[in-house]
Amino acid sequence: MASTPDPLILAIDQGTSATKALLVDVSGAVVGSASAPLATAHPRPGWVEQDPAEVWESVRLAVANCVPGEDAGRVVAVGLSTQRESLVLWDRVTGDPVGPLLGWQDRRTADRCAELLAQGAGPLVAAVSGLPLDPMFSALKAQWLLDTYDPDRRRSRTGELCLGTVDSWLLSRFSPEHRTEIGNASRTQLLDVRTGAWDDRLLELFGVPAAVLGEVTPSDGPFPAACGLAPLPDGVPVRAVLGDSHAALFAHAGWRPGVVKATYGTGSSVMAVVDGHSEMEHGLCLTVGWQHGGQAPTLALEGNIRSSGRTLTWLADLFETSTTELLAAAGSSSDGVAFVPAFGGLGAPWWDADAVATVSGLTLGTGRPALARAAVESVAFQVEDVVAAVEAVSGPIGTLLADGGLSRSATVMQAQADLSGRAVHRADEADLSALGAARLAGVGAGLWSVDELAARPRNSTAFRPTTSSEQRRAAQAGWHAALARARAQPL
Ligand code: G3P
Repeated sequence: MASTPDPLILAIDQGTSATKALLVDVSGAVVGSASAPLATAHPRPGWVEQDPAEVWESVRLAVANCVPGEDAGRVVAVGLSTQRESLVLWDRVTGDPVGPLLGWQDRRTADRCAELLAQGAGPLVAAVSGLPLDPMFSALKAQWLLDTYDPDRRRSRTGELCLGTVDSWLLSRFSPEHRTEIGNASRTQLLDVRTGAWDDRLLELFGVPAAVLGEVTPSDGPFPAACGLAPLPDGVPVRAVLGDSHAALFAHAGWRPGVVKATYGTGSSVMAVVDGHSEMEHGLCLTVGWQHGGQAPTLALEGNIRSSGRTLTWLADLFETSTTELLAAAGSSSDGVAFVPAFGGLGAPWWDADAVATVSGLTLGTGRPALARAAVESVAFQVEDVVAAVEAVSGPIGTLLADGGLSRSATVMQAQADLSGRAVHRADEADLSALGAARLAGVGAGLWSVDELAARPRNSTAFRPTTSSEQRRAAQAGWHAALARARAQPL
């Protein structure tokens, strides 16, 4: 009698610069992976666009390169994690995109945002959505796309057009059903974060007819089954959809308050589950982390830092070198140089659109080692500012869990421990967003339970502080003085 082959989970992480695909076996081990790059266009200063068709093609390519034909039949479930806040408009009947994908970093709506803030819309938006009024979130992008492609909103009202974040766009490749996962929906700034429903006041404020939006769906579905992902047979169930940062927190087993993770990528996201908090506070966003197992949505606090890895690539480009070489050249001290990477303003916890990027404390003796060190420290100081804000809400945080591309740098991790005075535990596994999606999909597929996931060992590398509290206080005072110089408003 032929034995049943061991099942596999296919996880897809659709990110800003690439789509990654992982195959995960029943023990939770990664047994295959592939990546497909994705281009970004900057047609005008502050504009960040991608081609929605290329996003879908990158998913198809990553899957095709990840899943060996002979194993395709073993895939029992798909888990999907996605870049968040980026927005796509498409035609419901043809499925064709209408206009470009507006990326989360896109700031073309900055003037409209300032207008709404001047009209006093900020408090209502923050109170309902849990998010500060800012061009990063999808609502202003939705208004821009509709003003541009459906100015009288006729096609939106009749449901001829669909608007959605990347999860929603990818799900629409599988079926004309229009759905969006609740965690992703909570990043649009159109959702009431407490009720998990689109909010009429926000829809009116941003001029978005409800009919253009998808049905808000828990993170474990029901979602349309995957199709068009050769060599997978059509019809493999999609058992999990999560925002990428949320998926990373899930993979760290950050299911309880007090567990805080930082993902170090182009920007950084510091995130922790919270109990009983229903407001944005200390400059942190209130977000739906996930919803599964028929339970109420899990809320999380998040602080987004706009530039971390990007600061290092910017400086490396300036020196015509690689990020790896720049990190290797970093000295042990910044020699009084402070780098505030407010390219396009500052995100959490300051949310200052008018802050300017500055490098201060230069002397004629300043060279590459001090500048590189200051860039590394800017990553660590910004993360620490957000971790301290989370701590103010949730109580003492001794350990910071780390993941993401830039966390592979021991220089960055040690700087984080030294400047924060906290132990930093870097996950030994890479691709935590994809793993989080795989783990939730495995729960949905009945391969394991959340309790079994909690019992699994999670291997990490620890970086411990080597600084005294006086040294840290002095370093942080220097950083905050530099921040004050970069900001129009006082701290
Ligand atoms: O909030 C934006 C974030 O989800 C994008 O993540 O990894 O694609 O840069 P990433």
